[in-house]
Amino acid sequence: MKGIILAGGKGTRLYPATLCVSKQLTLVYNKPMIYYPLSVLMLAGIADILIITTPEDRPQFTRLLGDGSHLGINLTYAEQSEPRGIGDAFIIGADHVGPDPVALILGDNIFHGPGFSGLLMSVSDNVEGCVLFGYPVVDPQRYGVGEVDDDGRLVSIQEKPQRPRSNRAITGLYLYDNDVLRVASELAPSARGELEITDVNRLYLEQGRARLIDLGRGFAWLDTGTPESLLEASQYVRTLEERQGVRIACIEEIALRKGLIDADQCYRLGEQLANTGYGEYVMETARSAGGAAIRGVA
Ligand code: G1P
Repeated sequence: MKGIILAGGKGTRLYPATLCVSKQLTLVYNKPMIYYPLSVLMLAGIADILIITTPEDRPQFTRLLGDGSHLGINLTYAEQSEPRGIGDAFIIGADHVGPDPVALILGDNIFHGPGFSGLLMSVSDNVEGCVLFGYPVVDPQRYGVGEVDDDGRLVSIQEKPQRPRSNRAITGLYLYDNDVLRVASELAPSARGELEITDVNRLYLEQGRARLIDLGRGFAWLDTGTPESLLEASQYVRTLEERQGVRIACIEEIALRKGLIDADQCYRLGEQLANTGYGEYVMETARSAGGAAIRGVA
């Protein structure tokens, strides 16, 4: 399965903070926002990922993440010069996706919860149609909204409805079979001239090929759209990290645990970030996994 991270847009709701830096590179507690969606794709076992940015922001993303080889993954980049909707990711990313299924994640979506990697691995293994993830919120009118029947089957999808039919927001992580390339290429733009992801999902739903998985209690899907919600997201990450001594969305740790890099490589990545709690954590993670360089052999 291929991956796409959509990290375009102007982030106007965070101005002036995002006047000259991409929203998806702003800080969520102690790491750039894009680490969080990148972690999700890595946790799903996806190693071939396209990052779509604006032309202005692209150099910063490549400076931060390069070609991904240090993490044992393959990162490539493409540009979206104007916001043309989330569905546009499949037009821009068609060559990248090739004949494969694809997971699309929005670059400002933060997911965290127990068992997420296992869930993603099992779902991404064999995607037929599309798989969406629902999350209960108090303000569903701000999101795509999914309605399910008594058997838990998805029956309708609305985009930012004034009168939502349920409190289930559809999160910014979408898994599709390869047919999504055709669906997106045949899609008519909405009234605001964009290829709406909700229209893509609705087409799948009409064909009985859309599934909604609920991310239940105890799971966090955090908003980063405003200064307030961004601060709350940072506080959430800080609280868990300080209390448990773990790091959320530590891409070096995930690369190590997924067997994409070995302990020595991981240790060296930590060394480059030494003098920070983050760097220490990466080195400690590598140390406990063992490795020649760490034992002073290499
Ligand atoms: C987009 C989608 C919406 C989805 C949301 C998740 O909205 O259109 O369906 O629920 O992402 O973050 P946007 O945030 O672009 O307004």
